[in-house]
Amino acid sequence: MIDATPRRLLLLEQYADGEDARHVSLRIEQPRASDRAVLPGQFFMLTLPGVGEAPFTYISLPDAQGHFSALVRRTGRLTQALFEQPAGAILGYRGPFGRGWPLFFSDNRVLLVAGGCGLAPLAGVIDNASRHQLPAQLSVIYGARHAAAQVLGRERARWRQTLRFIETCDQAVPGQRQGSPLEHFAELFATQPPEVLLCCGPEPLMLASAEACLQRGIAADKIWLSLERRMHCADGLCGHCYLGSSYVCQEGPTYRYDRYLQLVGNSSPLAIAQHYRFC
Ligand SMILES: Cc1cc2nc3c(=O)[nH]c(=O)nc-3n(C[C@H](O)[C@H](O)[C@H](O)COP(=O)(O)OP(=O)(O)OC[C@H]3O[C@@H](n4cnc5c(N)ncnc54)[C@H](O)[C@@H]3O)c2cc1C
Ligand code: FES
Repeated sequence: MIDATPRRLLLLEQYADGEDARHVSLRIEQPRASDRAVLPGQFFMLTLPGVGEAPFTYISLPDAQGHFSALVRRTGRLTQALFEQPAGAILGYRGPFGRGWPLFFSDNRVLLVAGGCGLAPLAGVIDNASRHQLPAQLSVIYGARHAAAQVLGRERARWRQTLRFIETCDQAVPGQRQGSPLEHFAELFATQPPEVLLCCGPEPLMLASAEACLQRGIAADKIWLSLERRMHCADGLCGHCYLGSSYVCQEGPTYRYDRYLQLVGNSSPLAIAQHYRFC
C-alpha cells in the first residue's frame, strides 16, 4: 500500500550532538503495528509543514508509544527549519521505508565501518548486538574528520563499555587515532579476521572498505552498504532514487555488495569512489 499521507509526529526535544547535528526525540501520535516492526537501517520521511519532506534514519526504533529518535545534520532548508522548532511542535511522519540491515548472522565476527553521520543507520545494529550479545564478536570502526564532527556522543560512550569500538579522526587529535578507518584495517584483520562487513558513510569510504574486505577474503555476499540517494516519494513512484534498475527507496537503502556490483554494471567501484572523491 502506498504511504503518501503524513501522520502526526510530535517533536519532544532536541540537543546538539556533533558539529551542525542534533539528536532529535520524536513520538508518532498514533503508532501502528508496522512502526513496531521497524528494522535498523530502514528510514522514514519527516515533514515540516510549509517547508517540505526529507528522509532520515532511525537511531532508536519506535516503541509501543511511538517514541523514537533520529540524528539530523543541518544541510539545507528543512534541517535548518527543524533546528528552529520548539519542543511540542507538530511534524509529519511517513514510514517505515526500505530494507534494513541483515540482523541474524551465521558468522561470528562482524565488522561495522562508519564514517561521519553514517554511524546513525548502524546505531540499531550496535544496540541490538550489545543487548543480545550477537554476533559473538562485533567490532566497530568509526571515522570522522575531527573530534567536533563525531556524532552520537552518548551512544558511543555506552558502546565503548561493551564492544570493540575504535574511533579515528582525519586530523590529529590527542588521545584519538589518526587517519581514515581504512588505515586501521590491517590491525582489524591481523587476528580473527571479520567474516561480514556492514558499512555506512561517504560513498568513497564504503566502496574502498568493500574492496579492501574483498581483497582480504570476505565474499561480496557478506558485505553490505547503505546508500544515500535523493528521494521524493520514498515509495517507488517518482524515480528520483534510481541505482541502475533499482529504486533505492524500496530495494535499499542497504544493498548486498554483489547486488550493488550487478546494478552498477561495468563501472569499477574504485573508479566510482575516485569520482566521488573529486566531486
Ligand atoms: C535513506 C536516507 C536516509 C537519510 N538519513 C539521514 C539521517 O539520518 N540524518 C541526516 O541528517 N540526513 C539523512 N539523510 C539525508 C537528508 O535526507 C538530506 O540531507 C535532506 O535533503 C536534508 O534536507 P534539507 O532541506 O535540509 O537540505 P537540502 O536543501 O535538501 O540539501 C542540502 C544539500 O545536500 C544535498 N543533498 C541532499 N540530499 C542528498 C542526497 N540524498 N544525496 C546527495 N546530496 C544530497 C543537496 O544537493 C544540497 O546541496 C538521509 C538520506 C537518505 C536518502
Ligand atoms: S524516492 Fe521516488 S521512486 Fe524512490
